[in-house]
Amino acid sequence: MFLFAINRLSETSLTQQVYEQIRDGILTRKLKAGEKISSTRELAAIIGVSRNVVLEAYEQLIAEGYLEVRPRSGTYVAQGSSLQMIADYFKPSFQKEEACRESHVYIDFKAGNPAMDHFPRDKWGRLAKEVCHEAPEQVFGYTGAEGAPELRNELARYLLRARGVRCHPNQIVITSGATQALHLITELLSCEETHIAVEDPVTDEMRTIFSYAGAKVHPVRVDEKGIIPELLPAEGKPSFVFVIPSHQFPLGGTLPIQRRVQLIEYARKMDCFIVEDDYDSEFTYEGVPVHSMQGLDSERVIYVGTFSKILSPALRIGYAVLPPDLIERFRKLKWFTDRHTSTLEQLVLARFIEGGYLDRHVRRMKKIYRERREALVSCLQKHFADAKILGQAAGMHLVVELSGVHFTEEVMERVKEQGVMVYPVERYALQKGFHNSQIVMGYGSLTAEAIEKGVEKLKKALES
Ligand SMILES: Cc1ncc(COP(=O)(O)O)c(C=O)c1O
Repeated sequence: MFLFAINRLSETSLTQQVYEQIRDGILTRKLKAGEKISSTRELAAIIGVSRNVVLEAYEQLIAEGYLEVRPRSGTYVAQGSSLQMIADYFKPSFQKEEACRESHVYIDFKAGNPAMDHFPRDKWGRLAKEVCHEAPEQVFGYTGAEGAPELRNELARYLLRARGVRCHPNQIVITSGATQALHLITELLSCEETHIAVEDPVTDEMRTIFSYAGAKVHPVRVDEKGIIPELLPAEGKPSFVFVIPSHQFPLGGTLPIQRRVQLIEYARKMDCFIVEDDYDSEFTYEGVPVHSMQGLDSERVIYVGTFSKILSPALRIGYAVLPPDLIERFRKLKWFTDRHTSTLEQLVLARFIEGGYLDRHVRRMKKIYRERREALVSCLQKHFADAKILGQAAGMHLVVELSGVHFTEEVMERVKEQGVMVYPVERYALQKGFHNSQIVMGYGSLTAEAIEKGVEKLKKALES
């Protein structure tokens, strides 16, 4: 029999532990069909538990068909109780654990990770307790797919004040992150014959969302200011144009008003929508944040936002602000997908905004991100004389261009060997060959010390 690990401090009963370990042994084929297993007396003696514990576990396994008793012979693993599929099923999670363990040794400049060490745990915890005690009973049942009115009301006020978004709360549908909002918009607007005009480069997540929904993607090149409207498809109307005008990902441009106007004129002429992803615009470190495009034309622009960067991706709260004609169809799709996003979390968030804690949190985080950004910029300039930082000083990532360096697979392997992860812009590009010397470096979740160490390692890797 294979090795048992009995944990007497665990809350799981000894019988349950014996049962689970034998069952898992069978499912993963450590115990083979037809194999004789120890008698209850032997196993109890080997693992140091009472015989009754083992007896009970065996009875359960016999009742479920994993084991069979052969009279005057003993207890055997039953035929047909494991499947190749089930054995394989255990592999990915094991491999994932390995990958997780591995990832801990890297200094990971992944973009979009917020400062998880600064989540307002105490405040959130207190508000969650309040909601749990004070919310009326119906909150604990199913509610409308569009989301809690309390949150949508707060959000409509916040978006007008902070982002110049003009909407009635009824135009807002709460989603499980911007990811779900973008998936639902794609499902709603695109069909096989149409395509989506997408900024190029673009995050691989967004591109995957569009392709997964069966849409064809038409890349439109981006320069240091953002999308170039002249390059939008002149023929064949796209179902929508996807843009991140406040802080393009990854290149970091802020779309000037002239291009915003051009985009809206294009959408009007082609009779299509613009989908504006505004995922990290609260964090702008130079000048005043530019207002949303939705404020320029609320009929043509669908605005998508998220609390993943401003608070935490673990909340899974995002939203779409829709033109009136799309609301009902979008709401239905949301209902079919998952009924609604967690009402309890929405109510906590509504109180967080109403109490002024969100504004305070943003001010605090802005300071932290600005410091982290400055630390990264000064380290890059110290170690790479010709480092060129691209884009607006905003968000939680920057793009650095190191002329003369070509971030090929082989170079990236050397960087990884040094224990650091950076992300070539080419990886996000649909049209290849324009960004060979540029990498994306996220700093949101890294301390100044980690940033310093990471840049030193990068330098070492590029010199080797
Ligand atoms: C461009 C962009 N928009 C939005 C998001 C946020 O997605 P979600 O709200 O589902 O966490 C991300 C995540 O990294 C992103 O890269």
